[in-house]
Amino acid sequence: MKILVIGNGGREHAIAWKLSLSPRVQCVYVAPGNAGTAFEARVRNVPISVADLETLADFAARERIAFTVVGPEAPLAAGIADVFRARGLRIFGPTRLAAQLESSKDFAKAFMQRHGIPTAAYASFSDPAQAHQYAERQGAPIVIKADGLAAGKGVVVAHLLNDAHAAIEALFSHYGARVVIEEHLNGEEASFIVMVDGEHVLPLASSQDYKRVGDGDTGPNTGGMGATSPAPVMTAQLHARVMRDIILPAVQGMAREGLRYTGFLYAGLMIDAHGAPKTLEFNCRLGDPETQPILMRMQSDFATVIERAMAGALDTVALEWDPRCALGVVLAAHGYPDAPRRGDVMTGIPASTEDLHIFHAGTTQHENQRLTSGGRVLCATGLADSIEAARARVYENVARIHFDGMHYRRDIGARALS
Ligand code: AMP
Ligand code: GLY
Repeated sequence: MKILVIGNGGREHAIAWKLSLSPRVQCVYVAPGNAGTAFEARVRNVPISVADLETLADFAARERIAFTVVGPEAPLAAGIADVFRARGLRIFGPTRLAAQLESSKDFAKAFMQRHGIPTAAYASFSDPAQAHQYAERQGAPIVIKADGLAAGKGVVVAHLLNDAHAAIEALFSHYGARVVIEEHLNGEEASFIVMVDGEHVLPLASSQDYKRVGDGDTGPNTGGMGATSPAPVMTAQLHARVMRDIILPAVQGMAREGLRYTGFLYAGLMIDAHGAPKTLEFNCRLGDPETQPILMRMQSDFATVIERAMAGALDTVALEWDPRCALGVVLAAHGYPDAPRRGDVMTGIPASTEDLHIFHAGTTQHENQRLTSGGRVLCATGLADSIEAARARVYENVARIHFDGMHYRRDIGARALS
């Protein structure tokens, strides 16, 4: 069969690579893909933008694509699943309305409140003056979030009231209509990612990402600078609690509200000092870069698992995982996350092996050169018997890679080791 993957990041490279290993898969098309997917065996890039929903559907129909997997949130929020389903094309992902769990923080917070899902206290504003007053009353630290999608730039954790006011100004002026202001939570973050078929839930292996740009969790938030799987913080007990208190109420709540959820569902969690989880956010997709280590560890046939999900039969699937640890380090472009530079020449990218894969994100091929073309450029991901060994394997290989302005965190895995 032929499969279509939508997107061009490291997550989509990992999805396409993993799907291409299925013996039943003849070819995985990636729209639009990157320089990494261009060179993967049985993977082919198709130059269609993720925003061009009708052209993507035309392609899927013409090529008799068995099913489509959507990487990023933007096409889901724009209704790609609705467009495909209306044309009888199989696609794994939530509808536009169900994707509001990610595309509107205001929707997500109100939904969590309606269904008793633990999350930070909040208030939502369409009037900047009222937002400023509320922040003033609450005091810092406080968290300011744009209501809509903002490609990882819509959240400001303000440690000073002045920063909170500046963030309110900035988010209203850049992202428009509404901001959500939240209580600041302390603790350890973890990513909890599951597959949902409308009713049943199948958790993926645990993972944890490193969101700040700098070592020791310093500097601005990014889309993610590295990740590990498993995440030791996710004990069996905590896992059961997250399923019971957060994931199942969310899936059941969506179904009860007539927004039956299918697709990947990602809960960003904050685990407090007593081990109690709260939901920072929902995403309606896999995480990037969490997907890269997670899929390095997946031993099940990913294509078959997604087919079971689309058939509403996730209760019949037991996933198998490599017991080893996986760790991914993102190599970012000069200026990331504020103003990433494009067009730097990359050299020294090691060939992939069974326990090392260099997933591409913001890369393109130009004549004989591979060039950077986005903020997060590569994600070097390795597998080994321990987090320490995986870390050593990855950093040893990262040292061979070069492009001007390349920067990365040197402490990925630190939380899993402490
Ligand atoms: P979000 O997109 O809502 O997950 O926010 C991005 C990042 O901001 C999270 O991964 C956290 O690091 C941080 N963050 C978001 N909400 C809060 C909160 N209520 N308290 C503390 N940190 C937060
Ligand atoms: N790594 C965080 C995310 O994908 O949202």
